[in-house]
Amino acid sequence: MELLVLGGTVFLSRAVAEEGLRRGHDVTCACRGESGGVPAGARHVAWDRAAEPDPPRALAGARPDAVVDVARHPSWVRAAVAAFPEAHWSFVSTINVYTDEATPGGTPDSLPLHDPVHTDEDPATSPELYGAMKVACEDAVRDGAAAAFVVRPGLIVGPGDPTGRFSYWPARLDGADGAEVLAPGDPDDVVQVIDVRDLAAWIVDAAERRTTGTYDGTSAPTTRGDFLAEVARGVGVEPAWVWVPQDALAEHRVEPWAGPRSVPVWLPLPEYAGMLAHDVTASYDAGLVTRPLAETARDTLAWLREHPDATVTGLTRDEEAEVLGAWSRQARPR
Ligand SMILES: NC(=O)c1ccc[n+]([C@@H]2O[C@H](COP(=O)([O-])OP(=O)(O)OC[C@H]3O[C@@H](n4cnc5c(N)ncnc54)[C@H](OP(=O)(O)O)[C@@H]3O)[C@@H](O)[C@H]2O)c1
Repeated sequence: MELLVLGGTVFLSRAVAEEGLRRGHDVTCACRGESGGVPAGARHVAWDRAAEPDPPRALAGARPDAVVDVARHPSWVRAAVAAFPEAHWSFVSTINVYTDEATPGGTPDSLPLHDPVHTDEDPATSPELYGAMKVACEDAVRDGAAAAFVVRPGLIVGPGDPTGRFSYWPARLDGADGAEVLAPGDPDDVVQVIDVRDLAAWIVDAAERRTTGTYDGTSAPTTRGDFLAEVARGVGVEPAWVWVPQDALAEHRVEPWAGPRSVPVWLPLPEYAGMLAHDVTASYDAGLVTRPLAETARDTLAWLREHPDATVTGLTRDEEAEVLGAWSRQARPR
């Protein structure tokens, strides 16, 4: 199969290219090449889609069997679909297309979408624009491609993650056998992520089988207690978890999700109770296969050790100790 990856130098699109090569496909990665290199064995075609949405001369006459696109700009997607309309298209969207982040058990059929924004905007001006532009990109693929597989990932994790959100946990637990470690919220809170390699494999499967439809791209939900236990198992430690409820986290100025002073992958409830709690039965029925989270944690830690400069977001050790100290005085006054 001739597989055209629009990307290939970063996390997911690179993992898709790697998976295609592993299966013996002929893989072309079209992008600027500014974010990194394409995998060994892939052909790189230089293409700056911001400067020129239409494909470069090096792709003239190309008839790929399958295209995978991760773009965020509607005009880029419209131009690329128009150039390769007969291919099977996998479009990587996001669960940020949904306006409802509070209802657990949501599916592509049950959750409302943002109204599409068909123009190229800067999502930094309003976070909702990211989802709204992805809705327009999805529509362009469904309208223009012979076969459209639209996948809406939740939090993508694993080796190579440029965001450092999930990476916080294996990095924090490395060497933490028996140590007190802050666990956010409640052990029964629901959490859901997807290993980048599982998502990439599903996308290549879909291209091979010409699967069509719209699916959430994340693994089955689990509890936060089990999530952390699995990460600890992958890292090979048994920490002494100290559960700090969300009200206390907020009181001690701990941020959710990502960034400075955050506990990564923790979200306030009930406003985000649906974001990491999608019903993905249809995704598994359509061929998604996911590995144990312990394996993801183990491999992420190995990757972090090989890449000491990799981004890891979240609380520093000093900040965590400060919060745990304050919580211990509050919860167990002497
Ligand atoms: N990370 C998550 O947890 C998460 C969650 C939900 C959805 N998603 C979605 O999953 C996808 C992730 O894709 P990804 O991991 O491959 O990272 P990405 O950062 O979205 O994709 C980057 C790719 O696009 C290329 N690119 C950027 N600017 C370009 C330009 N002007 N012209 C041509 N190519 C350009 C980059 O190559 P060069 O810079 O080398 O040109 C790179 O290969 C995205 O669609 C994202 O919206 C991610």
